[in-house]
Amino acid sequence: MNHIISIRDLSRTEIDQLIDEASRIDSSVSFDQSLKGKILALLFFEPSTRTRMSFEAAMARLGGTSIGLDSVEASSMAKGETLADTIRVVSGYADTIVLRHPKEGAARLASEFASVPVINAGDGAGQHPSQTLLDLYTIRQSMPLEGISVGLLGDLRYGRTAHSLAYALSLYGATLHTISPKGLELPTSIADELREKGTEIVEHRDVSEIIGTLDVLYVTRIQRERFPDSASYFKVASSYRVTPDLLTGVRERLIVLHPLPRLDEIDPGVDQLPYARYFEQSRNGIPVRMAMLRKVMG
Ligand code: NCD
Repeated sequence: MNHIISIRDLSRTEIDQLIDEASRIDSSVSFDQSLKGKILALLFFEPSTRTRMSFEAAMARLGGTSIGLDSVEASSMAKGETLADTIRVVSGYADTIVLRHPKEGAARLASEFASVPVINAGDGAGQHPSQTLLDLYTIRQSMPLEGISVGLLGDLRYGRTAHSLAYALSLYGATLHTISPKGLELPTSIADELREKGTEIVEHRDVSEIIGTLDVLYVTRIQRERFPDSASYFKVASSYRVTPDLLTGVRERLIVLHPLPRLDEIDPGVDQLPYARYFEQSRNGIPVRMAMLRKVMG
């Protein structure tokens, strides 16, 4: 079965093929109807704007239809039905399931009970592979992916987009500079595994130490919803902010990315600068997710 649960399920060749396909889709004037008659189930048990809407739009552009659930409260899970049973049932209604769930490992579990492909659209603090593919696609619009220097700024502990991206970048020989508030560092399990594979990871406390050497600055939101209590969140809230001032004297080719939503970690004054690519990045969710849907259902 063609599940996409973790970015680690994809080889570098498969990632390249998906990005190439997204790029072909992006440059074509009309879309084929290759998924006409197919049904995509969107099960989103956590808030979402971009991921949900862009999967739905991608499916529509390929001629297919989407059905979905937006919350546990609105489904029979509120009556006590298990995720496993829900997935077994939805497998009978749809040709692919896109799942977002607050628990790490939920998508993997779902894939064990599904009789159709499952795409992980975010499992707690785990992984977010479709986001990573569009992140890579966005970087590649500006520069080759090989050997770049990437700053990962923010909540690297709970941020699933950073986890998936770090794994993927290691396939391309990137150097990773991690900058996070105390306690929100990249999990050692991930850092150790990547270092073992030969990826250089350098930790910093302040982004200004390193900004001048970066090709990509990947900013993330503090994942408040994963904190045990609000006191621990407020200890780190608003502790970093990318401003136009910070970006004086950076490399000309620097791009600033953010999976969005942003709170206060990027000053709106940055939006006008040539480095800002986060809104293009969110738009890139369409061709990339079209390529993914074709891969699993085509
Ligand atoms: C991210 C997520 O859900 O992990 N959002 C997204 O899909 N673009 C990042 C976040 O919520 O901070």
